[in-house]
Amino acid sequence: MPTTAAIVLAAGLGTRMRSGRAKVLHEVAGRTLLGHILTVLGDLSLHQVVVVVGHQGDEVAAEARRVAGDDVTIVEQVEQRGTGHAVLTALPFVAEGVDRVLVLPGDTPLVTAEVLASLVASTSSAGALLTTHLDDPTGYGRLLRDHDGRAIQIVEHGDATDDQRLVGEVNAGMYLVARDLLAAAVESLDDGNAQGELYLTDLVGHAARAGNHLEAVVVDPQPVLGINDRAQLAEAGAILNRRHLERLMRDGVTVVDPATTRVDVTVSCEPDSTLLPGTLLQGTTTVAAGATVGPYSHLVDTSVGADAVVRFAVTQGAVIGALATVGPYTYLRPGTVLGRGAKAGGFVEMKQADVGDGSKVPHLSYIGDATIGRDVNVGAGTVTCNYDGFNKHRTEIGDGAFIGSDTMLVAPVTIGAGAVTAAGSAIAHDVPDDALAIERSPQVTKEGWAADRRERTDG
Ligand code: UD1
Ligand code: CA
Repeated sequence: MPTTAAIVLAAGLGTRMRSGRAKVLHEVAGRTLLGHILTVLGDLSLHQVVVVVGHQGDEVAAEARRVAGDDVTIVEQVEQRGTGHAVLTALPFVAEGVDRVLVLPGDTPLVTAEVLASLVASTSSAGALLTTHLDDPTGYGRLLRDHDGRAIQIVEHGDATDDQRLVGEVNAGMYLVARDLLAAAVESLDDGNAQGELYLTDLVGHAARAGNHLEAVVVDPQPVLGINDRAQLAEAGAILNRRHLERLMRDGVTVVDPATTRVDVTVSCEPDSTLLPGTLLQGTTTVAAGATVGPYSHLVDTSVGADAVVRFAVTQGAVIGALATVGPYTYLRPGTVLGRGAKAGGFVEMKQADVGDGSKVPHLSYIGDATIGRDVNVGAGTVTCNYDGFNKHRTEIGDGAFIGSDTMLVAPVTIGAGAVTAAGSAIAHDVPDDALAIERSPQVTKEGWAADRRERTDG
């Protein structure tokens, strides 16, 4: 087997994004454009991955290392003088012993390992490139073939004659080339063209003139779609989402309405989980078997346990236990951990809250910086007053405690196991196990007062 390295071209700014951020750092379906490419490359057995950086090179390099690990080779192309110049800059950093090089743009997040495999499968000794047929090839390099169908040249749009512009077969910008041929070709490039750049595409003519034609392999347009602007970014997002949902459904996940369900490629769902309409799952979110998420829920970096139910919820960095129920209209912030069968009900917000197995916070509560034991009932309207304007303080509630409705728990405070707080109490002092704490002014009841007032005002 030949030894293969990949060079990813990611030095460009991507002017048409109209962004302060380098194009390859834009995110779609939960990964940056560069992240998508590097993830696919991770599935091939490559000897080395080289990323050519330029615009925002430090950030792009950091993203490359984050996704592909520290083994990735970063090469800086200080001045972006064209795709050929990018390869010329990178080649000296390709390891010895590598005999062919896969060259890819950094802005094609839809590319799949299967499509790249069709390059690898080429038997041409020179190598191969991917082309596709487009109804509107404007802007792309056109592939010219001779009467035997061999690839003889790529002409860039700006350099093409009217006749050449009628060619619908375009260069996808993905190549697998014998290293020696690639090196000889990029060393011989000149910038005598419409854009005044060193075109990597001139490689095709170079090889043909030497009688060693690259094979042009035609593939479907979708997987080689490049992102140049935000409309294409959105289009790619829809395609990646659709692909991911189809994979999930094949694997046994019920997706009731794929049209309104968005699941990042980084999210995993177990068989027999159900996603209801209007659900957006992002980051490292996982959904276990039997769980139902939605309708209308947005989960980020959240783990949903088996058979849990999450409805109309917004969560981030939360761990939802098996059989737990969340929602409707619930906001779980980072550090929330709901135990088995626990409940965070309507209009409940939690943050850094550890809620034990079977404990319930059913209505209208704020629970922050708290540890709640097992089988605790937290009454409607309870608030942990965790912030004194300077610092955050913790609330601890023991197993089996009963927190009356509208209790204000003024932290730091500890409620013992089995203790009860009376409804409407502001509890600022620790309550021992099994005690009752009541903090309320005595009630004054005036007999007949209401009827008297009615008479006075009606009179
Ligand atoms: C390129 C091809 C064109 C093909 C099209 C497919 C050339 C000359 N043309 O055109 O035939 O149809 O891709 O999408 O190659 N880059 C660098 N350094 C540079 C210049 C570019 O790293 O100096 C990177 C860019 O960041 C980008 C990739 O190379 O990721 C492609 O460059 P781009 O300028 O977008 O090439 P196209 O004009 O699209
Ligand atoms: Ca491009």
